Amino acid sequence: SKKAIIFDLDGVIVDTAKFHFLAWRDLANKLGIDFTEKENEQLKGVSRVRSLEKILAWGNKELSSEDFEQYMQEKNENYLKYVDQLTQADILPDVHKRLEELKQKQHPIALGSASKNARRILKQMQLTHYFDAIVDGNEVTKAKPDPEVFLKAAELLKASPEDAVVFEDSVAGVQAANQAQMLSVGIGEKSVLGEADYVFKDFTEISDKVFQQITN
Ligand code: G6P
Ligand code: MG
Repeated sequence: SKKAIIFDLDGVIVDTAKFHFLAWRDLANKLGIDFTEKENEQLKGVSRVRSLEKILAWGNKELSSEDFEQYMQEKNENYLKYVDQLTQADILPDVHKRLEELKQKQHPIALGSASKNARRILKQMQLTHYFDAIVDGNEVTKAKPDPEVFLKAAELLKASPEDAVVFEDSVAGVQAANQAQMLSVGIGEKSVLGEADYVFKDFTEISDKVFQQITN
């Protein structure tokens, strides 16, 4: 049977990773905490709650649970202001082409994202119809690097993990895919995503031949 293909969203399909970074950094600065793009790697693939916990830990700060909720909401509103500007033109290079190709070849396709905004963003990008299953931050209880999100996605696609391929830009996500016994394809820097079975800077770096090898 055809390999099941699972895509992460942020930083793989669309470059929202930079918006998460900007929105978190704005908020952190308000709390008197600063962090760099390097530290931000640790927030990629990580849930909203866990991200704020990490930022607070970096700054040695604590918040009441009300403030915590308030700040998360503020971050999300700020983030969505960036997201609202996105159009189909912001889909990362070659992603649309590969989705179309996989669809043509009748591969089962799923989204496996930690984001609670995933459905909204797919819709805005007009990509929803490519996905046979969507597992996002609303369905998952254990965040990446726990494999839950990808295992659920494979289950919905009726595929066994060994027959699934995951495209991921985060360390936590690559670890989740590996733990799920799936083929992990890192999208980003080799120095960051070294644990993945394959790493490419972006989809334009994957030749037709290699893409077919990986997905077949
Ligand atoms: C993705 C991103 C993270 C983000 C998380 C939750 O995994 O890589 O940076 O924190 O989703 O996103 P949300 O849109 O629910 O805040
Ligand atoms: Mg990501």
